[in-house]
Amino acid sequence: MTFDTRDHNAQMSHFDQADSFWLFGYGSLIWKADFPFLERQPAWIFDWSRRFWQGSQDHRGTPLAPGRVVTLVPEMGARCDGMAYRITPAVLQQLDMREKNGYLRELVPIHFAPQLVSGSISAQSVEGLIYLATPDNAAFLGAAPLSHMARQIAYASGPSGSNSEYLLNLERALQELGVQDQHVSALASLVKHTA
Ligand code: BEZ
Repeated sequence: MTFDTRDHNAQMSHFDQADSFWLFGYGSLIWKADFPFLERQPAWIFDWSRRFWQGSQDHRGTPLAPGRVVTLVPEMGARCDGMAYRITPAVLQQLDMREKNGYLRELVPIHFAPQLVSGSISAQSVEGLIYLATPDNAAFLGAAPLSHMARQIAYASGPSGSNSEYLLNLERALQELGVQDQHVSALASLVKHTA
């Protein structure tokens, strides 16, 4: 079953009048930036954890054998690291299309590493966007034992490629950012050992 979020997202008018704004990527947006952006910077958000809890029937699986892709789940005190992109409002149409199966736009504070500006260190945070798949979308799968999730990922494949490629691309991209994510590395390790 699909849950097409394009109409809902198109009604969200935050940033419509802005020249540019920041989008935080925590999944495929980290390693697959196939959209125009003005700049990008490693960034993080608080109180959210990355989880392979969203079903994918359109990219990394099929309706009969859905794959698992990431969404964010609220977790007080958690920190999720990723990559932020400064984009123009026009780019959202393209992203709404790419992430149409269950992902809604949501506003969050995005944090950047402190920078040296005019001789002094300034910490930066801005309000920006994430794409979020919540439990009420039809493709949501939710939690399962890690071994079950790993098996599902190991065998699923869809129009965008295999589900394991998605997971291992994410693992590599996080390593390149110097980010430790227990959930991702545990799943990747299990998938690599699944025959
Ligand atoms: C992301 O990488 O931020 C992302 C993941 C899944 C859907 C939309 C965005």
